[in-house]
Amino acid sequence: MLTYQHLYQPGQDPSAPPLLLLHGTGGNERDLLPLAAALSPGSAVLSPRGDVSEGGALRFFARLAEGVFDPAEVARRTHALADFVAAAAAHYRFEPPHLIAVGFSNGANIATTMLQLRPEVLGGAVLLRAMVVLDQSAAPGSLAGRRVLLINGQRDPLVPADHPPRLAALLRAGGAEVSLEMMPHGHGLTQADLTAAQRWLRFSL
Ligand code: MLT
Repeated sequence: MLTYQHLYQPGQDPSAPPLLLLHGTGGNERDLLPLAAALSPGSAVLSPRGDVSEGGALRFFARLAEGVFDPAEVARRTHALADFVAAAAAHYRFEPPHLIAVGFSNGANIATTMLQLRPEVLGGAVLLRAMVVLDQSAAPGSLAGRRVLLINGQRDPLVPADHPPRLAALLRAGGAEVSLEMMPHGHGLTQADLTAAQRWLRFSL
């Protein structure tokens, strides 16, 4: 069932990977469209809208306080989103092993928890400003063949400095090939993120 409000744009280039866009807190399914268009112009795009409201700001799972989460709720929301992605793949006819998640902030966080809990629905991910939400390693071998790019900011007030390397280790434990880039920036995205993601995508396919 296509349980999330979402936007789908068919791809123009069959060799370009389909992208799963996951917006940050307070965003919606249109936020990352310009980024996707710049990153991989011919890609099909699936972009769900977060279904959890934090005072009207949409997200993909609840936040008890800044950086504080309920692991059971995160797991439940992660499975719900993964079920949606699997249903959308069948409906729109794309192959989950080719699907690349592009997530920002809360969207990067749920992309990460999908890699940890439901690795079969993604082929790889660009995680922009992600943090450790579920402190558990991916199951050994579960992420074999998956490529992940983590881009974090050295001056990000929301993501503690030890989180990016910890996150990389949690995903590498599952066999993912993880690249971690630290930018001299904060939580917001910059042109440097786009350039790094373009370079990674070009060499990862
Ligand atoms: C989260 O809640 O996922 C992180 O704090 C990032 C965000 O503010 O959305």
